[in-house]
Amino acid sequence: MAHVRVAVLVSGTGSILDAMLAEEVPVALVLADRPCGAVAIAAAAHVPAELVDRLSFGGFGGSFDRAGFTRRVTEVLGAHDVDLVAMAGFGTVLAQPLFDAFPGRILNTHPALLPAFPGWHAVEEALAAGVTVTGCTVHLATLETDAGPVLAQEEVPVLVGDTVETLHERIKQVERRLYPATVKAMIDTLEGQASGPGRADTRARR
Ligand code: GRF
Repeated sequence: MAHVRVAVLVSGTGSILDAMLAEEVPVALVLADRPCGAVAIAAAAHVPAELVDRLSFGGFGGSFDRAGFTRRVTEVLGAHDVDLVAMAGFGTVLAQPLFDAFPGRILNTHPALLPAFPGWHAVEEALAAGVTVTGCTVHLATLETDAGPVLAQEEVPVLVGDTVETLHERIKQVERRLYPATVKAMIDTLEGQASGPGRADTRARR
């Protein structure tokens, strides 16, 4: 696969996206599920951004049309010729068709040492549990949330007096280094597979 095109899926402030751009991850698309700060970061970096707004698919309650939302996300990724999907603080659980469209090519970063503290409140739960060490995990995303194979993990200490905000920020400092590095390693692997011995001349074509 020559010149892997990465989509970053976001819902929040986008500081991890910002770090990925700073580390020159080839971000071809930023896709948001709600208006959020990450969209402005994409605009400032002149990266195309698409909003697939949950509000157009029933919002955040029981009437959310997950299948329809997933279908639209998959279409948008296809329209931008995306090869690799990197979730960076994405707040919507996607359905099976997305995983079928990108088998083994969806990554996630999570602010805890999985399998400990999966889910959206990982930092809060680690703090409430009184652990002295937590961390972050980069993993392959699968249908089951925060359960796919681990690619990289790093510990972060919990300090006396930490709040959810101070601890999450200390974890994110690590994520901003670990996630770009792991995504770039995955890109190297994908590009290497396509340009094995005798195939180097195909790298520039697409
Ligand atoms: C990160 O801690 C990520 O692991 C979690 O959401 C946070 C995203 O932060 N799922 P930001 O929006 O990139 O600042």
